[in-house]
Amino acid sequence: SPAIPVIAIDGPSASGKGTVAALVAKELGFHYLDSGAIYRVTALAAQRAGIALDDENALAELAGKLDVSFDNGEIWLDGTQVGEAVRTEESGNAASKIASLPRLRAALLAFQRSFRKAPGLVADGRDMGSVVFPDATLKIFLTASAEVRAERRYKQLMEKGMRANLSQILQDLQQRDARDSARSVAPLQKCADASLLDTDTLTIAAAVNEVLRRYQA
Ligand code: CDP
Ligand code: CDP
Repeated sequence: SPAIPVIAIDGPSASGKGTVAALVAKELGFHYLDSGAIYRVTALAAQRAGIALDDENALAELAGKLDVSFDNGEIWLDGTQVGEAVRTEESGNAASKIASLPRLRAALLAFQRSFRKAPGLVADGRDMGSVVFPDATLKIFLTASAEVRAERRYKQLMEKGMRANLSQILQDLQQRDARDSARSVAPLQKCADASLLDTDTLTIAAAVNEVLRRYQA
């Protein structure tokens, strides 16, 4: 039987991956995997358990027995909703720290792959096309300039009523991209068989339509 289709959308922070991936999934009636949320919630679980963010063995063990589920955009950890706690930039940075550890990444592979269910999956992250779903039907590398991305993240935080500082966001975002790109395991990079989508001047709707067009091509 043919494999269940996967659309892999990878790219740097605040490029619009999550927004675009969720809308493409909705349009196609596919499942959606926010893989970054898995790294964020793992970091949160580690902090709650008092595990240092560089303790690779303890983190891999924790990741292997994580009690996490997703329900309509809400994340549940150990039976309680985590809410906005995983949406802060601090949480993104903590996620990026643990994400450089190979054994932790390996421990999260099976969980991520379990989201591949009929009729299909749209998954966003850093290594969806390169590592988690190397046989994906379509691989998109979604990007935008650092300045545009910082502006988007700033607006997003302000709309949620969270405190934000644009130049701090730009600096944090560039640091996180540098760390994600420099790591030896599953670095942030466009893989050879991914198609580039630069959203600097694209609206969300235009980016969604472009992904759908490439999928149906
Ligand atoms: O939304 P944003 O792009 O800022 O972050 P995210 O996708 O939620 O990911 C948070 C962090 O988790 C990233 O900076 C990566 O270091 C890590 N991550 C990863 O290593 N691999 C993935 N597939 C997804 C996220
Ligand atoms: O998942 P990722 O960190 O890549 O980005 P996101 O959270 O989906 O998008 C960051 C912000 O940029 C959101 O508020 C989106 O609505 C906005 N955005 C935009 O204004 N234009 C786009 N083409 C894509 C996203």
